[in-house]
Amino acid sequence: MDAILIGFMGSGKTTIGRMLAKTLLVPHTDLDQEIVENAGQTIPEFFSNYGEKKFRELEHQILLNQLKKNGVLSTGGGTPISMQNLEILQATKAPVILLEASTNTILERVGKSKERPLVNQMSVEQLAELQFKRMPFYQKCANLRINTDNHSPLEITEQIYKYL
Ligand code: S3P
Repeated sequence: MDAILIGFMGSGKTTIGRMLAKTLLVPHTDLDQEIVENAGQTIPEFFSNYGEKKFRELEHQILLNQLKKNGVLSTGGGTPISMQNLEILQATKAPVILLEASTNTILERVGKSKERPLVNQMSVEQLAELQFKRMPFYQKCANLRINTDNHSPLEITEQIYKYL
């Protein structure tokens, strides 16, 4: 992989991932999209049919497959939140870029997203708590941290491009 984007839901992983891949002239892969294609169902469907544990198992398998390829990988917000995935992300030679955003920004971006089963079930306080709990995992595997609150996707992409 040329770069791996991690961060909470709504931090901009997919948008920035696409722009970065275009800039680098490499393929872009979205881990969630790979899961949807592999499972033949949407993420909310998968969660309600099989539960989060099975989702995480599939996510892990697909992460392993994707790391062998080149390009830019946008992960899911929960991808680094298991020891096995965290270790993989710490060990990879690919730069791991953490996109950060405040809870307010996250809420503005994802709102009451039907595509995100975890957001659907949560109050604002619970969302902020989940974000806080996940922070150490993200920080443990990130090589670069970028706050996306007051920057356009283009500015953020340029910042990553310069770093790479
Ligand atoms: C999740 C984030 C989602 C998706 C799933 C679970 C999470 O990805 O993988 O709904 O646990 O934070 P995005 O970060 O792309 O929304």
